[in-house]
Amino acid sequence: MLPYKTLLRIDKSSRQAVYLQIAGQFIGLIQDGLIQPGTYLPGSRVLAELLDLHRKTVIAAYDELQAQDWITAIPRKGMMVSENLPEIKPRSYNNGLHAYAEGPQFPIYEAPTLPVLRSNQPSKLVINDGFPDARLAPLDEWARECRSIIQRPAYHKYLAFGPAEGNMRLRKEMLKYLADTRGLNIREENVMITRGAQMSIYLAAAMIIQKGDHIIVGSPNYFYADLAFEQLGAHIIRVPVDEDGIDTDMVEQLCRTKKIKMLYIISHHHHPTTVTLSAERRMKLLEIIRKHKLAVIEDDYDFDFHYSAAPIVPLASADHGGNVIYVGSFTKSLGLSLRIGFMIAPEKFIRKTAALRRLMDLGGDNLVEEALAGMLENGTITRHLKKANKLYWERRDLAGELLIRHLPDEVSFRLPQGGMAIWLQFAKHLKLPVVADKAAELGLSMTYGYHYAYKSKPHNGMRFGFASLNNRELVSVVQLLAKAVKS
Ligand SMILES: Cc1ncc(COP(=O)(O)O)c(C=O)c1O
Repeated sequence: MLPYKTLLRIDKSSRQAVYLQIAGQFIGLIQDGLIQPGTYLPGSRVLAELLDLHRKTVIAAYDELQAQDWITAIPRKGMMVSENLPEIKPRSYNNGLHAYAEGPQFPIYEAPTLPVLRSNQPSKLVINDGFPDARLAPLDEWARECRSIIQRPAYHKYLAFGPAEGNMRLRKEMLKYLADTRGLNIREENVMITRGAQMSIYLAAAMIIQKGDHIIVGSPNYFYADLAFEQLGAHIIRVPVDEDGIDTDMVEQLCRTKKIKMLYIISHHHHPTTVTLSAERRMKLLEIIRKHKLAVIEDDYDFDFHYSAAPIVPLASADHGGNVIYVGSFTKSLGLSLRIGFMIAPEKFIRKTAALRRLMDLGGDNLVEEALAGMLENGTITRHLKKANKLYWERRDLAGELLIRHLPDEVSFRLPQGGMAIWLQFAKHLKLPVVADKAAELGLSMTYGYHYAYKSKPHNGMRFGFASLNNRELVSVVQLLAKAVKS
């Protein structure tokens, strides 16, 4: 018998399981010719004693070798090294090579991407794009709801696939919620739950756009919508956005002179500029939509956050002939990682979109969606939104005051009616990327701002996300920003 005790080296401190270490080393010995085909390996009891291991560990190693065809079990004789060794010999388990250190060796498609999002120095203090304060998320209520679901006799139902259109109870709860908040009168067949608003935007666009189709978006526009439309092959026409939203006269003119397949609008707190589409322009858009049978994606990702002014009802709630695909989100209400968004559309559109969705995502998280339904039903979401709105309103006002106090000549902005960010324009003599680099040196992470101008007119602006910063953090952030600007 070979001196297995010295040939096989077991490292109990290694993260690799011991049975895999043994299997890997046997493979190495066979590959090196030290153990020839037809040789019998020691019995599991003998080897276990020799290596001071539990017998089950050796049996697991032999099972692994057998599964890979390196050895064959011969009745009443033991484990024999196979006469026909595997043709594709796997690398030794323990040769230190990273399995994906190289490759792939075939061409791959590249999705459209953005220029740098943020200066690359991670800091404790961050000015983000307009995210909620995760510290406020109603986690106890969330945990209670999940617990109550798994205590139901039929809890296993929620651990199985739900429909691709989304959890039925949530879709039903959405009807009341959308009617109360947006005056939207629909049925559950009109609702599809998706992973965040982003998935709804992509799916809806994929159902409408064919390569080369002309579509209209605002200028500037929400960059991830732009990229989605680009990846679908759309020919994008950009229409300016001013303080009342997208220029509807220009939209109308384009519809009169060109075949326009789709319009993408962000009706409340436009991204990035934060403006809200005025009531007058909404009326005008409705006219255009009906007249030209224009497909519209109305992205209302931020509807639930309003401060000084009441929200205007979405286009989707008015008479649009079924041409408005309405997109919304709960990611900002709960926490960005709880990816629940929704699409509201004619029943036929939802059914066909669900078929497309199934190809990439068989269905959403049934349990998570059921829990959200419970929180809508018992009023948790409404209470949380009320509390968050009050706090974010105060933070918006404080952010505005601090920016005026510390950077009176260096930045300009209008306080948004809602949402989680202020659209901050830097004076001409200041270059945002230079400010961002300076800020990073001072411990403040912020954007270079390039992506806000993606394929639009260059500008020297950024979104100043105030909602996730408490009062103390807001003071520190604005002081650091002022220091970076003035140094
Ligand atoms: C305008 C706009 N639409 C859609 C989204 C995506 O939202 P969600 O996180 O629900 O996918 C965002 C994200 O911030 C956004 O700014």
